[in-house]
Amino acid sequence: MYEFSRSVNSMHSEDIKQLMKQSSGRGLISFAGGMPNNDLFPIAEIDEIYNNLSDDIKKLCFQYGPTTGYPPLVSSLHKMMRRKGMQSEKNKILITTGSLQAISIITQEFVNEGDLILTENPCFVGAISVFETFGAKMVSVPIDENGILIDKLKETISVQKTKPKFLYITPNFHNPAGIIYSQERRRQLLEVLSGTDIILIEDDAYGDLFFSDKDKPLTQSVKSMANSEVEVIYTGSFSKILGPGFRLGYMVASPEIFDKAESIKQAQDACTSNFTQILANEFVSKGYLDDYLMFLRKEYAQRKEILQKSLKNFLPKGISWIEPKGGFYMWLKLPAPLKATPIFRDCLKKGVVFVTGRTFDPDNVKDDHLRLSFSNMPKSDIGKGIKMLSEVIKKHMELNAVQFQ
Ligand SMILES: Cc1ncc(COP(=O)(O)O)c(C=O)c1O
Repeated sequence: MYEFSRSVNSMHSEDIKQLMKQSSGRGLISFAGGMPNNDLFPIAEIDEIYNNLSDDIKKLCFQYGPTTGYPPLVSSLHKMMRRKGMQSEKNKILITTGSLQAISIITQEFVNEGDLILTENPCFVGAISVFETFGAKMVSVPIDENGILIDKLKETISVQKTKPKFLYITPNFHNPAGIIYSQERRRQLLEVLSGTDIILIEDDAYGDLFFSDKDKPLTQSVKSMANSEVEVIYTGSFSKILGPGFRLGYMVASPEIFDKAESIKQAQDACTSNFTQILANEFVSKGYLDDYLMFLRKEYAQRKEILQKSLKNFLPKGISWIEPKGGFYMWLKLPAPLKATPIFRDCLKKGVVFVTGRTFDPDNVKDDHLRLSFSNMPKSDIGKGIKMLSEVIKKHMELNAVQFQ
């Protein structure tokens, strides 16, 4: 028997291992994986970019780089952040190995074992697993279709004996709930946090993936709306807008937070791959990203439409969901007393999978929802998969005497 450290005891990391297996299981129709479809990747553009690099830059690709990131990519990101309304003079950008590393660095920077942090409920499972690994005590606050519940947040803050170190939120096209925070809710949230010294972590992995241009203004970052009364650390990612294989993310923070984060990153992995940073920087600076995003928005909007129609056609009465305006996910609410885990087990036998609600509850209990991801599967499988899912749900309704006609 080995004497493992306490940090290996993350309940949710087992869920994630299962999830990664099921997302790519052979012969399965998978609504599980929150990743792009392989056929959407811009391989021709990346071929062209690499082949046209000078030999000197190609050599740089193979080399270590600065811990803070490849300087031209840092400049490109400053430009992108200014376009999102953030003040680049006041902030520094640290490039990270995926935005999950940014979340991990921030947690390591502020959390000692047993420290309190606040999350949404439901919450992105990758972040939950990081928080568990560092021994944070999580208290979660429910969200509705407009974002975190402000009264519940106020109440939660007021009853804590110690000050929470930070609040972690995903305001744009939430994973798993698919919702986007209203402007009003963003303002109210900043008001509540104002003067509390509770840092806000704004995870914006999906903000560029709105389905309709008219909704772009809704994605305005909370960080760009905040005054000096609230410290907001913003995290972003290339995973959903270029490819998760690049393992490229970043954090935008004040210089003091950035400095400590740089030291932590130095100890974790010295630097993020120069190879992918250089390719991504060319992709951005040549204007390919803007074109590619237009393509992706159309592609994901079509997938969402097909899923929305299939759900309306096949699901029994009593299941509800909010139609997303962007991102990768639909979050179905089951009628009481149905639970997602037994439905999942039966679905797996039939060859269709999703992710259970319990996975996204920091306490690993609440199981009255299921997450469907429409980003990863061929469009032609969506209807077939939903028909199979509906049959299993109907069976469970019958077993539990729930009306569904
Ligand atoms: C909300 C959210 N944040 C962060 C990430 C992590 O992304 P990355 O691949 O950049 O680590 C994901 C990935 O699914 C996500 O859904």
